[in-house]
Amino acid sequence: MITLKTELKDVPSVKTDALVLFIPSDDKINKATKRKLQTLLGKSIAKTSLDDVSGEAGDTSVVYTPDTFTSRRIIITGIGKTKNITVEELRRAGASAAKKAQSLKLSSIAFILEDFDNGTLEFNESLENVSQAIAEGASLGTYKFSTYFSDKEQTKNRIKSASFIAHSKKSLKIIDTGVKQAGAISEAVYLARDLGNTPGLDMYPKKLASVAQQECRKAGCKVTVFDEQKIKSLKMGGITSVSKGSERPPRFIVIEWNGGKRTEKPYVLVGKGITFDTGGISIKPSANMGAMKMDMSGAAAVIGAMKAAATLHLPVNIVGLIPAAENMPSGSAIRPGDVIRIMDGKTVEVDNTDAEGRMILADALVYAKRYNPKAVVDLATLTGACVVALGHYATGMMGNDENVIDALKAAGDRSYERVWELPLYEEYEKLIKSDIADVKNIGGRWAGAITAGWFLKKFVEDYPWVHLDIAGTAILEENSHYTQRGASGVGVRLLIEWLRSV
Ligand code: BES
Ligand code: ZN
Ligand code: ZN
Repeated sequence: MITLKTELKDVPSVKTDALVLFIPSDDKINKATKRKLQTLLGKSIAKTSLDDVSGEAGDTSVVYTPDTFTSRRIIITGIGKTKNITVEELRRAGASAAKKAQSLKLSSIAFILEDFDNGTLEFNESLENVSQAIAEGASLGTYKFSTYFSDKEQTKNRIKSASFIAHSKKSLKIIDTGVKQAGAISEAVYLARDLGNTPGLDMYPKKLASVAQQECRKAGCKVTVFDEQKIKSLKMGGITSVSKGSERPPRFIVIEWNGGKRTEKPYVLVGKGITFDTGGISIKPSANMGAMKMDMSGAAAVIGAMKAAATLHLPVNIVGLIPAAENMPSGSAIRPGDVIRIMDGKTVEVDNTDAEGRMILADALVYAKRYNPKAVVDLATLTGACVVALGHYATGMMGNDENVIDALKAAGDRSYERVWELPLYEEYEKLIKSDIADVKNIGGRWAGAITAGWFLKKFVEDYPWVHLDIAGTAILEENSHYTQRGASGVGVRLLIEWLRSV
């Protein structure tokens, strides 16, 4: 990841490959910013080269500096109309500038933040939030999963550092706070993306557990891993059954961050950790099956969020629970028609072995009760139906508690990892009734995201709970402002934003 730094310096004396100056498209401020720049650069800049700078969001132009500057260029980056500037616009602007520098094969950039602090750009965000957003955009926008390239040229020539330039001691401190938070959060998102993008061959339950252990312990969490024997002895029948078809045994990962008072009840985060989902005996069609290496994206979000929460020393107690298994077809796999027993003793008729996520999550939701949680939030790439309903721009949300639902909605808007509520009306419950067991693991043709949510609700005990179906938002088909095709790492920023607000 790009190194993020803060410096107190005069703009012309900053040593970098490119300075970055943000400019809005409002006529008056746009012109005034250009005039100021013209003065700073002297006559060497033809007025016309600045005339072309529109200030439209996403627009970048490069101008070259005179000898009075240590840096040779300035990337002028548009941020649109000041009345529309939000933290999301700034993330995108940070990403645009960093990606422009990357395409010029530069290795360092330095953001000039003065105009956000001297009254030139007036809008409703603190300098700390401005710095955090730009830094997040710059680091997340330049992510690339390059583990498997043998040609190291692919990784060379990448942008290495971004500096944030303060103009006063006071602003330096504020900017530094924002940039440090962005650093901790981006590192966690990188981890979640890497976990998701790693092929199933190399990312299996035991491996997922060892990465969680390594990364979260380093940040200050306590991590405990249950092996297959322990999972069986706890009667976690969902996890045991789903992993029966695989050569690779399941794991149950418990990550704890105790930043709050000893007596305070924890928030519990549960993440679906299917390291590869073939569908099992109800096997999936081969087209795009490779994307199912990302069926552990809920787990990745929880691991990332725990790491970030610990790095940021959030003053709350949090427990991360990850049921991890591989869903494979084989002579030892569970079959459609089988009846299994979840940890709380309830029986499930397995009508379709591809509806496996809900069965491993059921054990985790029952186990969560042990912590007497303040609230439980689960994240899972649970249903294709959720992708059909919401596409890639909103996570499906269901739950039993208005306060947690509202808080997650607000955190979603702020982080731009937006969530949208689907109803858990009682009428949907009958769709998962079984003739021979307490519940069936699939509903009919309709409302697939909701019947999956209802299945989980059957195993939720008397604690506030929200389920987030990230099937569409965790797995992306296209590059966008600061996300790339593949694993998005969704959930990390949402959860941290939420946990900071509680
Ligand atoms: N992991 C899939 C859901 C999924 C689909 C995630 C597409 C991301 C993209 C899940 O285990 C699954 O297979 N669900 C089935 C449920 C069905 C059998 C009721 C589905 O959505 O088709
Ligand atoms: Zn499945
Ligand atoms: Zn799955």
